[in-house]
Amino acid sequence: MILKINKIYNFDCFEFLKNIKEKSIDLAIIDPPYNMKKAKWDTFKTHKDFLEWTFKWIDLLIPTLKNAASLYIFNTPFNNAYILQYLVNNGLIFQNWLTWDKRDGLGTSTTKYTNGQESILFFTKNKKHIFNYNDIRVPYESTDRMKHAEEKGILKNGKRWFPNKNGRLCGEVWHITSERHKNKINGKTQQNEHIASKPFELIERIIKASSNKGDLVLDCFVGSGTTAIASKKLERNFICNDFDKKYVDLSNKKLEIL
Ligand SMILES: C[S@@+](CC[C@H](N)C(=O)[O-])C[C@H]1O[C@@H](n2cnc3c(N)ncnc32)[C@H](O)[C@@H]1O
Repeated sequence: MILKINKIYNFDCFEFLKNIKEKSIDLAIIDPPYNMKKAKWDTFKTHKDFLEWTFKWIDLLIPTLKNAASLYIFNTPFNNAYILQYLVNNGLIFQNWLTWDKRDGLGTSTTKYTNGQESILFFTKNKKHIFNYNDIRVPYESTDRMKHAEEKGILKNGKRWFPNKNGRLCGEVWHITSERHKNKINGKTQQNEHIASKPFELIERIIKASSNKGDLVLDCFVGSGTTAIASKKLERNFICNDFDKKYVDLSNKKLEIL
């Protein structure tokens, strides 16, 4: 069975990935369980079990990627340290370790620094890949130096440099408020539609940077549908999946009203 595009499937990730055509995916955005015990699906007996399970879906994912494909994997920095090594050992090319500063805190630890970040690994299948850096520029920090540069330019290597009017090149640390924090009312956390939904802005940045219109984006843990929705809005094709029917229905409902 080969799955059709622009659909959200309701399979276990292994079943889903086994039915994706080889070398058909331009961009994979994977936001899997983190083993943080936040839900049944996020709970594994041991860290070893979690890693074995993670490496199994990675093994099925790699053959689906086109030669010029990009792959992004979300996780805690600790887990991503292991995942990074596995991807390198499997011949993928490391591009960036992205730090997502969630503008929120996950814990209240007094024995170490509080957690406020997640990490995103950016890998490609080959050295030759798409990277639309101009489509993801971010605003310059407004400083006196920048004001001066806008008016008169700054002398660099004998040439006068003026800031790009669309902003600076995007760096590796992304300051994007989490959905959890955004939706708080009077500082109180609310019940969100999904406990781990990612901000639209974050997924949008990945899609704009690492794909072109008409490309095929894969997400095997789509949750509240962010990847499918952002792909459709940005005129990319998508093929997504979640093993919880409730989330597949929720995502489809959101897609319908786009
Ligand atoms: C971290 S959440 C993804 C959130 C998503 N990025 C969003 O923006 O809403 C992980 C999702 O993976 C799904 N999931 C967990 N284990 C799975 C499995 N074995 N196969 C398919 N889906 C799974 C869960 O139902 C959950 O919705």
